[in-house]
This record gives sequence, structure tokens and C-alpha cells, in this order.
Amino acid sequence: MYFELSEEQVMIRQAARDFAINELKPGVIERDEHQKFPAEQVQKLGELGFLGMMVNPVYNGSGLDTVSYALAMEELSKIDASTSVVVSVNNSLVCYGLEKYGSEFQKEKYLKDLASGKKIGAFCLSEPEAGSDATSQSTTAIDMGDHYLLNGTKNWITNGGTASIYLVIAQTDVAKGHRGINALIVEKGMEGFMVGLKENKLGIRGSDTHSLMFTDVKVPKENRIGEDGFGFKFAMKTLEGGRIGIAAQALGIASGAYELAVQYSKERKAFGKQIADHQAIQFKLADMATEIEAARLLCLKAAWLKDQGLPYAQASSMAKLFASQVAMKTTIEAVQIHGGYGFVKEYHVERLMRDAKITQIYEGTSEIQKIVIAREVLK
Ligand code: CAA
Repeated sequence: MYFELSEEQVMIRQAARDFAINELKPGVIERDEHQKFPAEQVQKLGELGFLGMMVNPVYNGSGLDTVSYALAMEELSKIDASTSVVVSVNNSLVCYGLEKYGSEFQKEKYLKDLASGKKIGAFCLSEPEAGSDATSQSTTAIDMGDHYLLNGTKNWITNGGTASIYLVIAQTDVAKGHRGINALIVEKGMEGFMVGLKENKLGIRGSDTHSLMFTDVKVPKENRIGEDGFGFKFAMKTLEGGRIGIAAQALGIASGAYELAVQYSKERKAFGKQIADHQAIQFKLADMATEIEAARLLCLKAAWLKDQGLPYAQASSMAKLFASQVAMKTTIEAVQIHGGYGFVKEYHVERLMRDAKITQIYEGTSEIQKIVIAREVLK
């Protein structure tokens, strides 16, 4: 067992840390307040190779491993989870899904632009009545010979307004259940495709979450990912990796809040000494540090398993389940340590606390992660 990172991994982590401090921190409070998408920051991340981190350089990616991706996600999320979710969805749901399961034509036409950050992608599975129960797709993709006719509504789609390329999960043959579901690549601008209203959210307010409407959208057959009926498995396999990204995001939110709490506790005085000298604060910091380290190990183990080509469904769900719990708990404690200052925006921890909540919901709720883990355990 070897716990050291490679030189390259350390370098990627440092680059992400520098980017977060220099490019994400300025304006992060205002973007959250006004729900402003970090367009400039996302463009720069694309230029630096952070939007196609694990994609083969042949398709304009950075050719890095999943461990590097998790390290970068933690660093970006310490400062700005609204930006890091864009990075996560583009990398691990859209680029990964296309590179692993797409055709050569699809990789040439779509993956190259997505991996270079020239275009942003979105992953469209959730519906008004199909979030956790992902097999119950109401969106239909009827086979019309040379194309599919797509109809339906998708909800809570990250990058919904800013994306240009959408991977849409839809039911082709109801009689076949989940084996009748397909994943289609839909381009913004296709006739009948409309982006709905932007959601006004509790957290990750800088990210761009929309509903999407499809009315008789003609999607060419060549835009179907994989064989007919592969859509549900495509979504599940892709989410397995996506959960590593969200676990690392949750970890970053937790460690960002923890670092602020440590710094504040050394500056703030109460009862004649720094609050860091009070055991009540020390106990909190010790718990936070221990749980964050455990979450980090789970995250990196899941990433490492994926890099080794070993099964990682259980590990990624465990990492996401635990890291998101730690994010919630740690950010609440960080606000508590900051006292009244923690409740105001300038101190950042209240935003991190609001951002933490979504990590227990998207890419499968905590309850869904427990289902996945239990199934693996009971196999
Ligand atoms: N890999 C491959 N195949 C899988 C799989 C996996 N990880 N998980 C399930 N399958 C297969 C099963 O083997 C089965 O196939 P067969 O019948 O051929 O054997 C098929 O898929 C159906 O599986 P289940 O019967 O187990 O399906 P289920 O309905 O009981 O539920 C579930 C499975 C795990 C609960 C699943 O529905 C799930 O993960 N739900 C949560 C979905 C989710 O994460 N949504 C988040 C939306 S995306 C998002 O949030 C992105 C964003 O914006 C940030």
C-alpha cells in the first residue's frame, strides 16, 4: 500500500488550488448572490485542460487519471462549488460517457469540443417524476427509421442553459422497460428543443440549473449512444464515475469550511485567549479533520480503483455517501465556530453550508447510494 501522490498529481492539485484562489475566489460571493454563471472562469478552466481532464489527448483531453481529477475537484470546490459542478458534469458524466461508449463519429463531432471546453455538456436523466426512480422515464424517443422523435421534459439539469450538447435519456419501447431506454445526443438549436426557466436554488447558485422541453425534436440515429436499449445502463455506468466527482466536490466543500474554521479560531479571541485554545473548539476541529481525512481516503480509493480498471460502483457510492455527510456536518460546525460572523456572507462558510446540501441529493440521493452499496454487499 502506497499513499504518496505522483509528482504530476501534486502539480495538478497545486494548479487547481492556484486557480481557485486567483480566479474563483474574487467575485464568488457576488456570483452566489446574483446567481451569475461563472462564464469567464469556465472558459479559462477549459483553456487549462480542466474540462476534459481524463479524456485521451487524441480527442483534445488532458489524458490525466481519475485521482488527479478528484484532487482538482477538491481544490476547486473548497472555494467555489458552483464552478466545480460544471467541471464535474462536463468531465465525468458527459466526456467520460462519450469517450467510453460513444462512436468514433460522436467522439470526433462532439467529444473534441467538449474536452477542450469549446462547448459545455449537460447530462439529462432527471424528470419531474423520475429522479431516484430513474427507470421511470416519461420522455419518449420514438424510432422513426432514420431518426428518433424526442418528446418530454427534463428537470434540474446542471448546465441546462449554458450547455450546447445534451445527453438525453429517453424511453423508446415502454414494453421493454429499462431495456427500452436510449441515450441520445441532442444539440442546442435542434428544432423543438427549448430551455425552460432557471431554478432559484438554496446552494450552488452560480451554476445554471434549468428544465428542458423537447417537442417533436428529430434526433438522427447516429446520435444514439451504444446499441438500441443501452440508455439505462449507459446512465448507471456513467453515474458510477460521476459520483467520484461529487464525492470530491463534497470533500472540497468540507475541507474549505474546515480551513476557514481553523484560521478563524486562531484569530478570534474570547474569554482572554484565542478560541483555538478552548477545548470546545479543539474537539470540533479534531472531529472535522478526522472525518475529512476519512472522506478523502474513500474518494481517492474510488478514483484509484477506476484508474486500475477494477470495479468501483460500491466505492464511488461509499465515497459520495460519506463525503456528503461530512460536508454537511463540517460546514454546520464551521458556521458554529464562526458564531455571528458565520451567519453573514463575507465569511464564506454560510455559502459552503448551503452548497453542501446538494451533494446529498444530486447524482443519487444518500438513500440511493445506500441502495447501491447494499446491493453490492449482498451480491
Ligand atoms: N452498471 C451497469 N448496469 C446497471 C447498474 C450499473 N451501475 N445499475 C443498474 N444496472 C442495470 C441492472 O443490472 C439492470 O439490468 P438487467 O435487468 O439487464 O440485469 C438494470 O440496470 C436495472 O437495474 P435495477 O433493476 O437495479 O434498477 P432499479 O430501478 O431498481 O434502480 C437505482 C437502480 C440504483 C436505484 C438507479 O435507478 C439509480 O441510480 N437511481 C438514481 C439516479 C441518479 O443518480 N439520478 C441523478 C440524476 S443525474 C444528476 O444529478 C446530474 C447533475 O445534474 C449533477
